[in-house]
Amino acid sequence: MAEQPVESSMEKIVSLCKRRGFVFQSSEIYGGFNGFWDYGPYGIALKRAIERLWWNYMVESRNNVVGLDSTIICHPKTWKASGHVDRFGDIMCDCKVCKTRFRVDQMPDPATCTNCGSHDLTEPREFNLMMKTYVGPVFDEDHIAYLRAETCQPIFLDFHNIRIATRMQLPFGIAQVGKAFRNEITPRMFTFRSREFSQMEMEFFCADEGSMEWFEYWRDQRWNFYKLLNIDESKLRLAPHDKLAHYAKAAVDIEYQYPFGWGELEGIHHRGTWDMSQHQKFSEQPLEYLDQTTNTRFLPTVVETSVGLDRMTLAVLCNAYDEDRAPTQKEGMEDDVRIVLHFPASVAPVQVAFLPLSKKLNDNAQELQKKFIGRYRTELDVTGNIGKRYRRQDEIGTPFCVTFDFDSLEDNAVTVRERDTMKQDRVPVDGLKAYLDAKIFGE
Ligand code: GAP
Repeated sequence: MAEQPVESSMEKIVSLCKRRGFVFQSSEIYGGFNGFWDYGPYGIALKRAIERLWWNYMVESRNNVVGLDSTIICHPKTWKASGHVDRFGDIMCDCKVCKTRFRVDQMPDPATCTNCGSHDLTEPREFNLMMKTYVGPVFDEDHIAYLRAETCQPIFLDFHNIRIATRMQLPFGIAQVGKAFRNEITPRMFTFRSREFSQMEMEFFCADEGSMEWFEYWRDQRWNFYKLLNIDESKLRLAPHDKLAHYAKAAVDIEYQYPFGWGELEGIHHRGTWDMSQHQKFSEQPLEYLDQTTNTRFLPTVVETSVGLDRMTLAVLCNAYDEDRAPTQKEGMEDDVRIVLHFPASVAPVQVAFLPLSKKLNDNAQELQKKFIGRYRTELDVTGNIGKRYRRQDEIGTPFCVTFDFDSLEDNAVTVRERDTMKQDRVPVDGLKAYLDAKIFGE
């Protein structure tokens, strides 16, 4: 893959995302809303495909992980118990000269604005990241509720309901995908740090004995997952936490080298019995697990894998973005620079595009497309010359373009053009399904 200059490649990705309908700033006609992003048609197709891959890998292909879809708002005591109401925040101060806002713990000593060098700073102030709302008719302190700041807390609340309903015994996991909200002080780097985002979390409940082996197991499983997304392994690294929460035995991040630098993509955390013991205390309900083989009761230990779907989608986009040289359509002209997204076929927003060579063949191409709707994510692309359409499909990362031309009427065959090699194969229509299946599902 061609090397991209660091800063401009991020700008190019953001601009491509807007131009091709992957990601737009929320509420753009009102000037935008900082930290909120909308996914357009190709963006949501990509994001859903990544989510499905995660769900399949973490839940459907195992016997020891089950799913949950909980509410975004749950009992406010949940967030007291988890510590989010009292402790989930950053101490910040502002530079009075250039107005830049900083986390105090990230400032140099003595405190100086790292942007303009000024010492003229506001007093440190605490910002809580929980998003508040009111539930019920009265908007007062007693009716405050919170939008969840992480998807895992409701998993702890439902642990025993799920255990009883499914007859699962330890060790087993519960997975959830859904929205999380944080009133981030400095949303930044496109979707990397947003105020509304989706998380994909799995809480694995086990006995304390053997829990470090489970931590290592899930760390390795999560590392291997990125192979399914064809993420360049040299751009991934494990970053163990220097400082651990008092209850945690271990924590490691999987970081990705985004164009703006290394950033946390996913966390794998050994949370001990902290969550279950806090919810036991605040709910005053017994949350211990009875191990029938040993007849002992204990609070389950939790190993968590937690990743932001938006951050993963951004990593997939950055990993896929490339510019290379493609032969121009015009004789005697220099090669074109081609923008191409090398998505793996499993997550490409469009897996197969159907292109009639001429308007006169639109109906034929559409008839052919109909045979494949439901099997692959398809698109009928009829506008512009064929060269432009190939470029457009390259830009949205479509791995296969099927062109229906005048010869197709005679020989009942089509041309399949492969995105990465730009190689073209003539394939009989009768053999097209087998050909594409092998390429798309046989990856
Ligand atoms: N339950 C543990 C937890 O939420 P976290 O490190 O705060 O841990 C886990 O978040 C993951 O969620 C991060 O690794 C990141 O992928 C994603 N994430 C966190 N804050 C985010 C934000 N403001 N915008 C986008 N993704 C975020």
